[in-house]
Formats: sequence, C-alpha cells, structure tokens
Amino acid sequence: MKTSGTVIPSSRFLASKMLGKIDFTKANVIVELGPGNGAITKRILKEMHPKAQLICFEINQHFFKQLKKIEHPQLTVLNVSAEKVVEELRKLGYDKTCHIISSLPLTNMPSPITKCILDESYRSLEKNGTFTQYQYSLSYFKKLKEVFQEDITLDFEVFNIPPAFIYRCKKYRE
Ligand SMILES: C[S@@+](CC[C@H](N)C(=O)[O-])C[C@H]1O[C@@H](n2cnc3c(N)ncnc32)[C@H](O)[C@@H]1O
Repeated sequence: MKTSGTVIPSSRFLASKMLGKIDFTKANVIVELGPGNGAITKRILKEMHPKAQLICFEINQHFFKQLKKIEHPQLTVLNVSAEKVVEELRKLGYDKTCHIISSLPLTNMPSPITKCILDESYRSLEKNGTFTQYQYSLSYFKKLKEVFQEDITLDFEVFNIPPAFIYRCKKYRE
C-alpha cells in the first residue's frame, strides 16, 4: 500500500518513543497526520490532559471509518489530506497547534505534496511547537532540515517492524 507505507501498525515501543518527549500537561491542541488504524492515536488520547483536543488527518476511507468508531470527546477525525492543516485548524477555531505527530510515509509520496505538508505543518505550529515523525530510513533528514532549520534530533526504535528512526523537530520562531 503506497500511501500507507506499511500495513503493520506501529509497536507500543515506537508509539512511546514518538510521544515520550512531549509535555502533555501543557499541550492543548495536538495534531496527528496519518493515524491509520489508531495505534498512536489511542496512546495520545490516554496521555492528553482533559481539556486538550486531538485532530487527526487521515485520507484513507477505511482507516477514517475505523477511527471514527473511537468516539472520544476530545478527538476530531478528518477525512482530509494533511496538506490542509492550516485551513482545517482555522475551520475548527484554532489558530495554531503545539505538537504534530506524523506517521505519513513521506518517502513514498510525491515531493510537491510532502513539501506542502511540511510547510503547512511548520506554519501551523506555535512557537516552541514540535513536529515528530517516524521513518524507516534517514533519507528524509535533509528535507526536514530545509523546513525545520532550528533543531532536529534523531532517535531510533529497534522494537518495531521494521525498526524506525524518529525525527523530533522544534520550531523556535513565532
Ligand atoms: C504508515 S501508516 C501509519 C499508521 C499508524 N499511524 C501507525 O503508526 O501504525 C500511514 C498513514 O498515512 C495516511 N496518509 C497518507 N497520505 C496522507 C495524507 N496526505 N494526509 C493524511 N493521511 C495520509 C495513510 O492513509 C496511512 O493510514
């Protein structure tokens, strides 16, 4: 499945590492890109504080319907491409997000689309906001660096099929 990247959901170890550095006590509006069957979504919902909101962008109809069944009061699932993050957040009444958690298969996607998604993600983040992305290789580091020039740290999770790199990008400017 080209747009999903893999058919095997992320392991709990990868989900923990993706979320491990996020201070959920301060996170109000969280965005997830490419939630798939919700392996990471469910973990975010468990960690979030009771007034926070999670907004998910999933283009696959099958996964979208599956995610809608979660029916959590703090969860909004959109059957919309991640290219529309800024516009969709505004429609929901939010100006910015503090954290974006992405499982998008960036290396399998056309580069104008990934460029648009990364630019939109950067624009939608508040100051000190973070963009966390996992990938199965280091090939995307350079492209992420073009957008998030300020700060990117790398991590690795071996207990996942396949093992994955985690990119943590931070936006320091307004
Ligand atoms: C590798 S799966 C991730 C599944 C899950 N988050 C996990 O980690 O187990 C990637 C997901 O990104 C979705 N996707 C691909 N392109 C997208 C886009 N432009 N906007 C939103 N979702 C997209 C796919 O439909 C798929 O569900």
